[in-house]
Amino acid sequence: MSLDPSFDRQTFERVRGLIYQRAGIALGDSKQAMVQGRLAKRLRALSLDSLPCYLDQLDQDPDSAEWQHFTNALTTNLTAFFREPHHFEHLAQQLRAAQGQDVFRIWCSASSTGEEPWSIAMVADEVAAQGPRRFEIIASDIDTQVLNTAAHGIYPLERIEGLSKARRQRYFLKGTGPNVGRCRIRPQLLRRVQFQQVNLLAPQWPVPAALDVVFCRNVMIYFDKLTQRDLVRRFAAHIKPGGYLYVGHSESQFQCDDLFEMVGRTSYRRLPA
Ligand SMILES: C[S@@+](CC[C@H](N)C(=O)[O-])C[C@H]1O[C@@H](n2cnc3c(N)ncnc32)[C@H](O)[C@@H]1O
Repeated sequence: MSLDPSFDRQTFERVRGLIYQRAGIALGDSKQAMVQGRLAKRLRALSLDSLPCYLDQLDQDPDSAEWQHFTNALTTNLTAFFREPHHFEHLAQQLRAAQGQDVFRIWCSASSTGEEPWSIAMVADEVAAQGPRRFEIIASDIDTQVLNTAAHGIYPLERIEGLSKARRQRYFLKGTGPNVGRCRIRPQLLRRVQFQQVNLLAPQWPVPAALDVVFCRNVMIYFDKLTQRDLVRRFAAHIKPGGYLYVGHSESQFQCDDLFEMVGRTSYRRLPA
């Protein structure tokens, strides 16, 4: 892709600064072409012909609805059902260990298009008879577009090819007619996850304290070290002593020995306060 002449280094630095302030996302030097491609769609939608002009409009109105489109355009949403499966096995053990507990609360804090929270919901449903009396799953993301997809629970059939036949049959409806080639989460599971927008950088998180488990996977890689450290401390304040934090495969390089002990690959147990 050739670079738009108005998209020079200075303009890229402006975009970087803005998305860092809004979402904590630290875009690397190599992302200039990606950024151009993604924001070009916004320029077309708004019939604007230069990125500096688009950024000027954003700057002039801190409350503009366009900020959400800008953020949505710059997030990376790669995900999959049962990605990094060891966390789901660990979660199933914790749910069994909580047998008799009144309520078990899980927060999936960067849920993207929903494959992760639906995987959590499947596990919770599977162990329901030997687990806590109730479970609550909150799923959130900063990106409103992926949250919308997540809440609808409709996916191309290829997305569930790797799931066992039992899970495909129990938790998905196969589309027919105009929906051939797609599947949908069955209504009994669809009721089990509450979706809401949460910016992990926001000073307050509208989620309950005393969570049993937090998933924060494959999002901290987009943040700088300071933001990562701050987030881990804030998660600690939201997780019960003995509860768990799961992070992504390349995200375990933070210092948190006073708050969490590592109990397995990218899995951390909250220490007593
Ligand atoms: C690569 S996806 C990871 C999805 C899922 N957790 C997984 O591991 O498969 C990263 C997600 O983090 C979200 N994200 C980025 N910055 C965020 C922020 N400041 N607050 C909340 N979510 C954010 C993105 O919108 C994106 O959906």
